[in-house]
Amino acid sequence: MRSIVVTGDRALSGEVRVGGAKNSALKLMAAALLAPGVSVLRNVPDISDVTVMTEVLEHLGATVVRTDHALSIDATTLTGHEAPYELVARMRASTCVLGSLVGRLGRAHVAMPGGCNIGSRKVDIHIAGLMQLGVEITTEHGFIDATGRARGAHVMLEFPSVGATENLLMAASLGSGTTVIDNAAREPEIADLAALLSAMGARIDGAGTPTITIEGVDALHPADHVVIGDRIEAGTFLVAGALCEGPVTVRGFDPSHLEIVLTKLRESGASLDVGADFVTVRRTGPVRPVDVATLPFPGFPTDMQAQFMTLMAIADGDCVITENVFENRFMFADEIARMGADVRIEAHHALIRGVDALSGAPVRASDLRAGAALVLAGLVADGETVVTDVHHIERGYEDFVGKLCSLGADVRTV
Ligand code: EPZ
Repeated sequence: MRSIVVTGDRALSGEVRVGGAKNSALKLMAAALLAPGVSVLRNVPDISDVTVMTEVLEHLGATVVRTDHALSIDATTLTGHEAPYELVARMRASTCVLGSLVGRLGRAHVAMPGGCNIGSRKVDIHIAGLMQLGVEITTEHGFIDATGRARGAHVMLEFPSVGATENLLMAASLGSGTTVIDNAAREPEIADLAALLSAMGARIDGAGTPTITIEGVDALHPADHVVIGDRIEAGTFLVAGALCEGPVTVRGFDPSHLEIVLTKLRESGASLDVGADFVTVRRTGPVRPVDVATLPFPGFPTDMQAQFMTLMAIADGDCVITENVFENRFMFADEIARMGADVRIEAHHALIRGVDALSGAPVRASDLRAGAALVLAGLVADGETVVTDVHHIERGYEDFVGKLCSLGADVRTV
């Protein structure tokens, strides 16, 4: 098992470029299944989740060729309609082939995702939505079995689930009639998926707003699409810059995708220069305590919760971080407490009392964002921090160690 070793108390400065958004690229890969022919995705991050998704597509009969950061996906002939448990168990996001298989084949057999370290990861909203679109669904022996194509309907999501919105978007694009998805997720990755689908010939209005309207079409054609920059990877490096005083410039993403995070960083005492595709962060004074509550977009992203907790751990006062999206996403708090952070969990609130300094310690990554946040904590801790289970980090961060070293950090993988 590889570990990341961090020696703290180093100033960071310089510039990093983030890769394409993991939480868009995986769904764009699934969307390529909707059209016979070769679709090309560019700015695809070189991360292990993309590798697993490639295996899923190949299992279904597509061929995938990577050249640098571009993927050519040939979905001319699909030979199957099953996403097997061993692949879904490795990556829950594989369930996003459900919508594209329903659209393309009118048939899907997708393993139910297991739970994970941040929550139960249910798919009941996906299933309810597809059933409202007239797709026949049974769930037996740990699988979702779907038959039939979407027939236009008005679907109200009980929660603006990102995955459910994406599956319904893909199923309805190759369906009949008019579908309206109400209370849809508004994450930038949804708009990125809609942009690819529209380039493939889908007729979609309102992506990025709570109400998305789709006119089903009979067929889609391949397209060539550049993945949006990864706002969460960007936010992770901005927190690193705020922790270590910077100046650090993070390039390659749309700052409007991180509005609330930038506001909270400013409130915490960081100063930011915001450009069209970059943000420069620096901090000269103390870290000030700032309360945060995670919410669906445009609220504060749950995927930035652990990273922000690291910053608040050394604030000069008390604050509360509330996790409203996942039911069990505070495992990170137990690990950073081992580095001297003063964090108390009360239900879905983390009560944080800032301390003067963290101390380096052996810690374990429980999920990819918590793992990244522990490395950030090591950057400002006294002494050495060893983060184990770093395969979690490699799922969603391309060359995380290399990028931190380019900013002057003393970090290495062993
Ligand atoms: C996506 O997960 C992201 N993953 C997550 O990022 C992100 O945290 C999440 O959206 C919220 O922004 C990918 O895009 C691959 P949801 P997803 O459906 O689609 C509950 C990361 O670190 N729910 O919006 O699974 C669910 O249990 C990962 O990159 C149901 O109850 O998120 C959760 O509590 C972590 N029933 C909440 O909704 C359902 O049918 C949000 O889930 C679906 C979801």
